[in-house]
This record gives sequence, C-alpha cells and structure tokens, in this order.
Amino acid sequence: MMIEASSPAKAILFGEHSVVYGEPAIAVALDRRISIKVTQSSESRVDGGRLSMRRHRYVRWALGNLWDGPPLDIRTRSYIPSASGLGSSAALSCSVAAALRRLKGDNIIEHAAGDAFDIEYNVQGGASPTDTSCSSHGGGVLVDINKGEDHLWSLSKGERTWHVHDIEPPEMTIVVGYTRKPSVTPIQVKKVRGFYDRSGFARETVKEMGVLAMDALKAIKNGDIVRIGELMNKNHSLLSILGVSCRELQSLVDASSPHSYGSKLTGAGGGGSMIALTDEPDKVAESIKKRGGVPYIVNVSMVGTETHGSEMTIS
Ligand code: MEV
Repeated sequence: MMIEASSPAKAILFGEHSVVYGEPAIAVALDRRISIKVTQSSESRVDGGRLSMRRHRYVRWALGNLWDGPPLDIRTRSYIPSASGLGSSAALSCSVAAALRRLKGDNIIEHAAGDAFDIEYNVQGGASPTDTSCSSHGGGVLVDINKGEDHLWSLSKGERTWHVHDIEPPEMTIVVGYTRKPSVTPIQVKKVRGFYDRSGFARETVKEMGVLAMDALKAIKNGDIVRIGELMNKNHSLLSILGVSCRELQSLVDASSPHSYGSKLTGAGGGGSMIALTDEPDKVAESIKKRGGVPYIVNVSMVGTETHGSEMTIS
C-alpha cells in the first residue's frame, strides 16, 4: 500500500489576524507544494527518523488522533520554506489528513479539509480555517462568518463557525519576498489577542480590515488589479498598527513598492514573507534580493490537495 498526497502553499491577500475575530479573509493557493509518500511500516517514522515531539508536531497529532491503523512511514518533500508565512504547516496538515482519509477509503476533500483544520487548530492552540481550506481547495477562497454564494464547506470551533467560499482569482503575478526570519504563528496571534482584548483602537482596526477585505472581494470579482494593489497597501498599514510587521518585512515592502500595484506582509507576520502584486516580477525580485530577502515569483495554483495511490484501504 502506498499513498501520495500533495498540497499547495497559500498567500493571504487580505484579512490575516482579523479572520480570527470573525472578519472575512481572502487567500490564494500558490504553485509551490509539499508532497508526502505514506507506506505501511513496522514503526511510525517521518523522513527516516522516529516521530519527534518537537520536529513532527503536526504529523504526531494527526497519527495520534486521526489514525488507528498500522504504523506508517511518511516521507516529505517540500518546496515551501517553513515558518515563512506561506502555509507550509497547513500544506503538510492537508496532505497528511487527505492521505489518512484515503487510506480509510474516503476521498472527500471537505472531510480532509476539516481534519487538516483540526490538526492546525490543536497543534497551534487556535487558528482559523483559512490556511488549511485554501490549501485543500486550491485557487482562491473567501473565509467568512456569513454564508454566501459559492459556498464550499463550513467549519466550527467553540462558538465560531467559518464558512469557506470559492472565489475565482484574476490572472495575477505575485512576488513573494521571504525575510529569512521565522514567523511563528501562535506567538503573533497571541500578541494581537493581547492588543485586541485591551484596546478599542485595536478592535476598530480589526473591523476596518474586515471592511477592506469585502472591498477587495469586489475588486477581485471585477479583475481590478490597481484597486486590489491599493487595498493591499492599506491592509499592510493596518497590520503594522496591530504590531505584526517588523523591520525586515517593512524593508522588503518598501523595496518592492516602486514596481508594484501593492504589497503587504502575508500570514502571521513578525518575520516570514511579504507579497507584491506586480507586472514587473523580475524588477521586484531584484529589489527584494538587494535588501537581503529571498524572492519567489509565483502564480496562483488552481490545484488544491491531490492524492494518488493504491486503492487497497485500511479501516
Ligand atoms: C496565519 O497564516 C493566518 C492568521 O490569521 C492565523 C489564522 O487565521 O489561523 C494569522
């Protein structure tokens, strides 16, 4: 028995952090992926090593909570830098969740997306389903507490239910600028939580990000790249107010802005990556490099989580 699964990276275009408080977020899948190969084994292993508490938290949680079959050997291959704000943990969670579902004879992507969200939520101690739903589905998604058109699935934790919708992203070239500084999502989420709980100004800022995301949805539907860029710049300013930008992110945002429609940090921040929307990707990439960042010229990937493998299933 052998199952292969792969899932794409994601970039949040609008609404990171504010989505945790019920505001809408828009994310797209990117054409860089994580692939895994899963085979039966005498003992659970990841990349040839025993399951480690520290290094394999996502796989450990998945095997401990979503799997009661024989031990599995999991080999990973990643083209997504880890802790980069590009959803490497979500892509890994989606791939593992889909492979385990497939081994149980279930190929329904909505089920795997729910499991992947459970993995991230539990390992990170809280999350919205934005990253895992985007990676599972591919293309573009809107995550909102209101149920609208093109609804894909709904996911709940505690009191909150998020509805995930399909959106069709316009043709766009994005340059990612990775700062080389890790972005640790739970730390940034906790930092924003502290600010949100004690400051009315922070709560207003989060609300404003929600309004902005809905404006962005209109611009995306109209294919209005100029407006999308303007709103990205605004979203970056609001994220900076929330305290999740940093010197390295700001430097890459500043470097890319002369050649971009808009640019912003993406994901949890505090490090990780920024994205620039541009039709001069080489110039943006060069400017990012000059400031010490790692540029990736990427496109939106319409392919979400995919699995292949033997149909022999284990229940
Ligand atoms: C992280 O990629 C996005 C955050 O909004 C957290 C989440 O939605 O789970 C910061």
